[in-house]
Amino acid sequence: MATKSTTKFTANDVPSQRERRVLITGANSGIGYEAALELARKGAEIIFPARSLDKANDAISRIRQQVPGAKITPAILDLASLASIRAFAARISFEFPGESLDLLINNAGVMAVPQRELTVDGYERQFATNYLGPFLLTALLYPHLKPQSGTRIVTVSSGVSNQGKIEFDNLQSERAYSPMFGAYSQSKLADLIFQQELQRRLNASGSPILSTGAHPGYAITNLQTSGPAGVMPIGFRIISTILKPLASQDAAHGAFPTLYAAVSPDVTPGGYYGPSGFQELKGYPVPAKIAPLAKDLALAKRLWSETERLVGVQFTP
Ligand SMILES: NC(=O)c1ccc[n+]([C@@H]2O[C@H](COP(=O)([O-])OP(=O)(O)OC[C@H]3O[C@@H](n4cnc5c(N)ncnc54)[C@H](OP(=O)(O)O)[C@@H]3O)[C@@H](O)[C@H]2O)c1
Repeated sequence: MATKSTTKFTANDVPSQRERRVLITGANSGIGYEAALELARKGAEIIFPARSLDKANDAISRIRQQVPGAKITPAILDLASLASIRAFAARISFEFPGESLDLLINNAGVMAVPQRELTVDGYERQFATNYLGPFLLTALLYPHLKPQSGTRIVTVSSGVSNQGKIEFDNLQSERAYSPMFGAYSQSKLADLIFQQELQRRLNASGSPILSTGAHPGYAITNLQTSGPAGVMPIGFRIISTILKPLASQDAAHGAFPTLYAAVSPDVTPGGYYGPSGFQELKGYPVPAKIAPLAKDLALAKRLWSETERLVGVQFTP
């Protein structure tokens, strides 16, 4: 097992991905883009959904500039819409039937949307995009994952999962909306609970598929500007301005924990990985701190059932 002192994992350590088919969300930008680039470089075939075909094709052409001939299929997926997820999953079933996927990386996310927004399904945007959508996507694609060792489902969470709470009477921020340390951290804690509970359920069914998780620490991407501009508390903005040059890393380094969780032979079932440095903000991937609430089995069970109800699917791995 990886320990704080032993891993120096970088993108160079990604083993050959030839003959492996990867589906990664949110890969037109940031950490997802860097992870997709490295997987393509190592020969993976990639299914590349984005919110528009233009976004997908633009990112794919940037990857092909570095990896000529990379086999990448663009697609449309809006994780904030249950209908879009169902349509995308139906397309995957049609174009890649049977047990056709080696790796599913639930990476896409949005952070600190300034005002509470509801999706077309009436769910709070961050909870829907970051958690409900990936849960439904995983449930629908599960039959397409190869039931063999080496197959993984990677869920990208965040260090702020440690600040999160699951409020069953406020899942959609209907009682109170706090963009960052309410809705966002709840969604990212939910991701981590899902990742851990999924592994327990895979174990119970005897599946060889692994559920692993990652967080990138503090990586400079569009995440900090696409949602939160102007809504962060002043104290948080001062701290991040001070921390940024000292404690942040670029998106390529931010992708290392995700790549590690996706491909390292050293991961453990249910393993969750983040950067090694101060407060897990930057550094090489190592086992990350799992928020105590993500170890609460009763909470995980209740959240799973409630999620099944909200997305309208029963997910029994
Ligand atoms: N950067 C960090 O420091 C940090 C820290 C902790 C956790 N994370 C997590 O890392 C993951 C990747 O974030 P990032 O930093 O790489 O940010 P990013 O550059 O903003 O990338 C986020 C990706 O998610 C996609 N996305 C957003 N809403 C979507 C939706 N409704 N449907 C489908 N795709 C959607 C975005 O697409 P568009 O281009 O269309 O918006 C983009 O491709 C997220 O889960 C985030 O929570 C990041």
